[in-house]
Amino acid sequence: MAPTNTLPAWAELQAHHEIVGKAFVLKEAFKADPERFQKFSTTVKLPADISTEPNGTEILFDFSKNLVTEETLDLLIKLAEQAGLEKKRDAMFAGEKINFTENRAVYHAALRNVTNQEMKVDGVDVMNTKGGVNDVLEHMRVFSDQVRSGEWTGYTGKKLTNIINVGIGGSDLGPVMVTEALRHYGAKDMTLHFVSNIDGTHIAEALANSDPETTLFLIASKTFTTAETTTNANTAKQWFLEKTGGKGDISKHFVALSTNEEEVVKFGIDPANMFGFENWVGGRYSVWSAIGLSVALYVGFDNFYKFLAGAHAMDQHFRTAPLRQNVPVLGGLLSVWYTNFFNAQTHLVAPFDQYLHRFPAYLQQLSMESNGKTITSDGTPAKYQTGAVLFGEPCTNAQHSFFQLVHQGTKLIPADFILAAKSHNPVSNNLHQKMLASNYLAQAEALMVGKTADEVRAEGNVPESLVPHKVFLGNRPTTSILVGGAIGPAELGALIVYYEHLTFTEGAVWDINSFDQWGVELGKVLAKKILKELDEEGNNGEAHDASTGGLLAAFKKYANL
Ligand code: F6P
Repeated sequence: MAPTNTLPAWAELQAHHEIVGKAFVLKEAFKADPERFQKFSTTVKLPADISTEPNGTEILFDFSKNLVTEETLDLLIKLAEQAGLEKKRDAMFAGEKINFTENRAVYHAALRNVTNQEMKVDGVDVMNTKGGVNDVLEHMRVFSDQVRSGEWTGYTGKKLTNIINVGIGGSDLGPVMVTEALRHYGAKDMTLHFVSNIDGTHIAEALANSDPETTLFLIASKTFTTAETTTNANTAKQWFLEKTGGKGDISKHFVALSTNEEEVVKFGIDPANMFGFENWVGGRYSVWSAIGLSVALYVGFDNFYKFLAGAHAMDQHFRTAPLRQNVPVLGGLLSVWYTNFFNAQTHLVAPFDQYLHRFPAYLQQLSMESNGKTITSDGTPAKYQTGAVLFGEPCTNAQHSFFQLVHQGTKLIPADFILAAKSHNPVSNNLHQKMLASNYLAQAEALMVGKTADEVRAEGNVPESLVPHKVFLGNRPTTSILVGGAIGPAELGALIVYYEHLTFTEGAVWDINSFDQWGVELGKVLAKKILKELDEEGNNGEAHDASTGGLLAAFKKYANL
């Protein structure tokens, strides 16, 4: 493919940005076009049988508070077409090996293919083959039902109510985020721990409050070779054996979620207690796979299945909706617009929803591990910016911490705001939810309209020296996502997949491989080498640069090594 910035639509967008983009005033656009909201918003509907709403939940995506005209969107779509977005999307859904640096298909959509259409990789239907998607789902259903009902017990016959998921990256962030988001549906007698960090504090704190007789460990690792996870898993195993005086039965208390049976067996877990998946599932896309077992255990398999079904609904939308109405495509193209033409560096995602408090952390991996790349498909560096720095926190908390910069800082920070119309906890006669909604609406409005110096003066009693400090320039773009009910499993599934395909769209336009992560390797290799050096007497880091060596020597001295 020709470099993205040499495509004809890129030049057209540059010219359009000079004339229209730079001069665009959002609040004027709304005055000039009373239909703007309708023209720039789209809904995606989830079927009634999986939704929190009796007639199905509508999710409204309002793109109207973005710095775009109809022509901007037409040009962005033209760019996507010239970059081969549809072809790339169809290749992904056809099981082609679009992760070309690892020669792998990118097929996580098969994990949520609840309509069970044939989906093939290398000529094999991954749904119905032995050990394939449906078999693993059935294994997850049986196991989660057994644990939840108490039929599967620990070695002393007690129900397992303390779940410790040991995993990191995609083997942690998805399960943590989703179990938190669906806490309303969680088993009330179950305690969940997620141990990821190699910092011993993480596992120590989880074990400190655990009883081996009632604890189930889920060792979650696609590769089963990740240093943090294998080390934490071994510490857990040792703790279990010590606490049970060697009587504890590993096969009742440890299961593996992995693609690597050989390593699972070496660790001491029976393959019968392994929940497998294939290498066409990327870590950051794996919550839909066996890696989601903690979710199924916590919220029950029927809810896990609804989660998959909601995700599938968004897959179908992405596959079939015309680009102009295709919400992940529009979200991704807006990100390209801000990144490449406005030089925006960041993407803020703020859920107005406490249950979604780990959603931004989850999206950080999804977005930045996918699109934090410089090299394009022909092996040469991109001559344009790629992945934005994604960050966020739930609101209203974020408003009281970093929103100052979003409103009055020197940077343009495109933001997404997410709200559910209905709360699972409508306390104080729903007052909290109405206040939450008022903030969701007010923040986007304030970012758009701002406040002029004259408006500040009109408030009266403002010394002239303070006026500039109280001015808000406004014209800051937001995308508002409104779930037309409460956020249940299906609604959450659809929201996640919105961001997955938004990320796909960005990567397709930028012509990068969104599915590898070579950038995490160098640090891992160096850490392994340095770990050895920490144990070598007399090694004071002389082989390193002066800073690394000096710090290594200081660490050894302070830690008495
Ligand atoms: O180091 C990054 C990474 O490979 C992520 O992509 C992945 O989600 C995480 O580590 C964990 O990997 P695994 O599931 O193989 O332990």
